[in-house]
Amino acid sequence: MTHTPERKKTTTLSLRQKKARGEPITMLTAYDYATALALDRAGIDSILVGDSLGMVVLGYANTLPVTMQDMLHHCRAVARGAQYALLIGDMPFMSYQASVDEAVRNAGRFLQEAGMDAVKLEGGRERAEAVRGIVGAGIPVQGHLGLTPQSVHQLGGFRSQGKTAAAAQRLIEDAEILQEAGCFSLVLEAIPARLARLVSERLEIPTIGIGAGVGCDGQVLVTHDLLGLFDRFTPRFVKRYADLHAVMAEAFGAYRGEVEARSFPAEAHSVEMPEEDWSALQQLLSSGKAA
Ligand code: KIV
Repeated sequence: MTHTPERKKTTTLSLRQKKARGEPITMLTAYDYATALALDRAGIDSILVGDSLGMVVLGYANTLPVTMQDMLHHCRAVARGAQYALLIGDMPFMSYQASVDEAVRNAGRFLQEAGMDAVKLEGGRERAEAVRGIVGAGIPVQGHLGLTPQSVHQLGGFRSQGKTAAAAQRLIEDAEILQEAGCFSLVLEAIPARLARLVSERLEIPTIGIGAGVGCDGQVLVTHDLLGLFDRFTPRFVKRYADLHAVMAEAFGAYRGEVEARSFPAEAHSVEMPEEDWSALQQLLSSGKAA
């Protein structure tokens, strides 16, 4: 008889153990209950409620308008759907930059009010104090280096990073500073694959790559990109595993056709009342006693 080990909740510790065993870590984004449930059932290790929701769900041009309220609302929905994955809430623009105090308080809200297990924030050495403060409050922090979308204007667009020797050296230093400040993991976005591999080898904490090659300890994608649900653009590093936009358009078209042809709803989709009550109603109506 085969024995299936009981599935346990993923923790920051189990991610670190995966890295130590050389097992790849899987992470995807979710912003709602149904997607979180599906990711959890697929055995994905970690779910990031990314501020990418600003673009792929709310339709903004970038992630800057996303608020704490937006994030907490979507985090709560995800927490209701996922039982096993490590849940990470993305701290939105200006929720952690102004002061360490504010960063700690806002990070705490993700755990206390929205069912998250950890938070993620963007930036290198300039965020070390905020990371120390949040970790000091007992809240696990995932860092994010490379293409950090909240700095889109400073970076001059959504561009890959760390491509010169000096930029790569700075990124390596930032990664080591964030590890030393207490981050349990780092997202590496849109940096050269061999730089990401080097960083991953130098760090004890797991790296999760997006557009950073196969040498990271794990991978993350924006789920709407993977499913083909985001229409505006697809970054070069995304692999589309489905074309759900086309599937949705086809289903909506079929629905419209059936409603217009009166073939939906059919009897199977309708509710009926017992024959005797129907007759009684007609008698009531004809004798003028209807309410
Ligand atoms: O907001 C997000 O979804 C992210 C991932 C791209 C890592 O930060």
